[in-house]
Amino acid sequence: MADARPFHWEYVPEAPPPEAFRIEGGRPLRGTVTVSGAKNAALKLLAAACLTGERCRFENVPEIEDVRVMCEVLGDLGVVVEHPEPGVYEVAAGDVDWLFIPLEAAAKMRASFILLGPLLARFGRVIISNPGGDRIGRRPVNLHVDAMRALGAEIEYRNGYYYAQAPGRLRGGEVTFPQVTVMGTENAMLAATLADGHTVIRPAAQEPEVDDLIAFLCEMGAEVVRTAPDTIEVEGRKRLRGARHSVLPDRIETGTFLVAAAVTGGKLTLENAACEHVTALVDLFAKVGVPVECGARAIHIDATGLRPGDLRACDIETSPYPGLATDLQPPTCVLLTQATGTSRVNEAVFEDRIEWLSELRKLGASIDIEDAHHASIHGPARLHGAEATIGDLRAGASLILAALAADGSSLIHGAHHVQRGYENIDRKFQQLGASIVRSADTAP
Ligand code: UD1
Repeated sequence: MADARPFHWEYVPEAPPPEAFRIEGGRPLRGTVTVSGAKNAALKLLAAACLTGERCRFENVPEIEDVRVMCEVLGDLGVVVEHPEPGVYEVAAGDVDWLFIPLEAAAKMRASFILLGPLLARFGRVIISNPGGDRIGRRPVNLHVDAMRALGAEIEYRNGYYYAQAPGRLRGGEVTFPQVTVMGTENAMLAATLADGHTVIRPAAQEPEVDDLIAFLCEMGAEVVRTAPDTIEVEGRKRLRGARHSVLPDRIETGTFLVAAAVTGGKLTLENAACEHVTALVDLFAKVGVPVECGARAIHIDATGLRPGDLRACDIETSPYPGLATDLQPPTCVLLTQATGTSRVNEAVFEDRIEWLSELRKLGASIDIEDAHHASIHGPARLHGAEATIGDLRAGASLILAALAADGSSLIHGAHHVQRGYENIDRKFQQLGASIVRSADTAP
């Protein structure tokens, strides 16, 4: 470990000035919007570039706060990150001299833990903060750590940090997860590309972002194959080369705009959208009664003919891909506020993802929150403008959706959460005819 690098984090948690969204609701959205590259792919691709000293180039990268943070974390390790034009990032990890990911980075963005696998595999050691420090519980990383141990890593946990090393080289092995984990699968796969021998990962996450990462790793010269829907096999290589890749479209942003059209009675064309990645949501729209038409790299949705009461209630349950994504639960709940009858929601993936519905109630939604995983939504509700507070990224975008559908004006606090993962969300909505501005927030 290099000893003397000064502690100079540019992103030391100096809170950004608070901002809020001010929204005048009740305007149908119309027009064409281009879906950005997927956050959950871009972050892993940037980390994967650390597997080689050669230059990697990424296109269609979303311009979002999480990408900025990941680039700063990489920069502090000694990785050269260039941003020659919007959406394009070049990463050269030739001179990594500081194998330490601090709490400041991990607390700001849990996805920084994805650096464990690549750094350990290439450099044989890394010290990485437990995301959230000692707060072990709701978003644990035990499956990542167990996966590295299955590949021969020695990992100790002290004072909020994992001290990981792989004397010699990581060894290929069996990585068997007790449950499906997206980043756990990705971390294991990244580590295995430079391990000695063959690795089998099972059950492997099936999210499209995992396959985007596989495609990039293969472009780098890695041998990674999905041999069954839930199995990924990796033959380790001694070294990988630089490569270029264009990030796949963000399916969560896609779902967010589909709901925006549906709840405002609008008509949208989504360009650069992969309909095949939102099948569960499109099926749900069919059951609820909103027409969605899939084209090649585009999706059309026309809700202009719908009248209040036309939509039908529908029970939903989130699950790993190809099921309904937990990240789409919040926008889907906004849609269900407009459906006639009672829709039961089962958030089966995370236990902290249902609480946000109490904020949605402030805009007039009729919702019973039953426990950490279950709620019932009674509709159709006539949403009205209100003041509400964003607690996390996906809930934030969904409160915006509700405010766009509501009569009157809303003030939604906590805009910074949304900037983490949605590129120019206010500008994109403005271009579709919404009245939404982001401005300094003086209230809580
Ligand atoms: C990723 C996505 C996130 C999405 C989630 C589920 C990124 C950056 N984030 O998160 O947007 O909501 O997939 O689709 O890609 N678990 C453990 N121990 C672990 C890891 C996970 O118990 O070590 C549990 C989690 O608490 C959760 C479940 O496993 O209940 C699934 O989580 P996981 O798939 O790992 O989510 P992430 O990869 O963190």
